[in-house]
Amino acid sequence: MKNEMHLQFSALSQNESFARVAVAAFIAQLDPTMDELTEIKTVVSEAVTNAIIHGYENDPKGIVYISVFIEDRIVEMTIKDEGVGIKDIEEARQPLFTTKPELERSGMGFTIMENFMDEVEVHSQPGSGTEIRLRKLLSKSKMLCN
Ligand SMILES: Nc1ncnc2c1ncn2[C@@H]1O[C@H](COP(=O)(O)OP(=O)(O)OP(=O)(O)O)[C@@H](O)[C@H]1O
Ligand SMILES: [Mg+2]
Repeated sequence: MKNEMHLQFSALSQNESFARVAVAAFIAQLDPTMDELTEIKTVVSEAVTNAIIHGYENDPKGIVYISVFIEDRIVEMTIKDEGVGIKDIEEARQPLFTTKPELERSGMGFTIMENFMDEVEVHSQPGSGTEIRLRKLLSKSKMLCN
């Protein structure tokens, strides 16, 4: 069965934990392992943090959009902002690359997303924003195998 949910919220750092918990609650119906749930929550945090601090440069008038689609054991998520966008996507995805070293950013957000998800697509245009598409196949549910 297909199922989907959509969220939008102000670009405020206190909404990062809300987004992480809301996505985890939606995914819970697939009976993921604790590791899978932790990985998905971490990835949502990284992408939402990026939208807030890089995309909108902490302007709370910005809106962050999340969509989650589930079908069978596949989880697809998009996390989108309408902020500044990324000039060079390939460079931004490199481990340790950051444009905000002064904020003690380590440049590991995209690397974490790639490690925890099966597919990571970055779509971005300077001046119009960034959309991250993430895909993960969950392991077989305990409830389904006996
Ligand atoms: N939504 C976004 N809008 C604009 N630029 C972005 C966005 N997401 C990422 N970037 C750019 O890509 C770079 C790399 O992102 P990444 O998440 O890997 O590292 P970081 O956010 O700088 O550091 P960390 O995630 O380790 O705190 C950022 O420094 C920023 O320049
Ligand atoms: Mg980051």
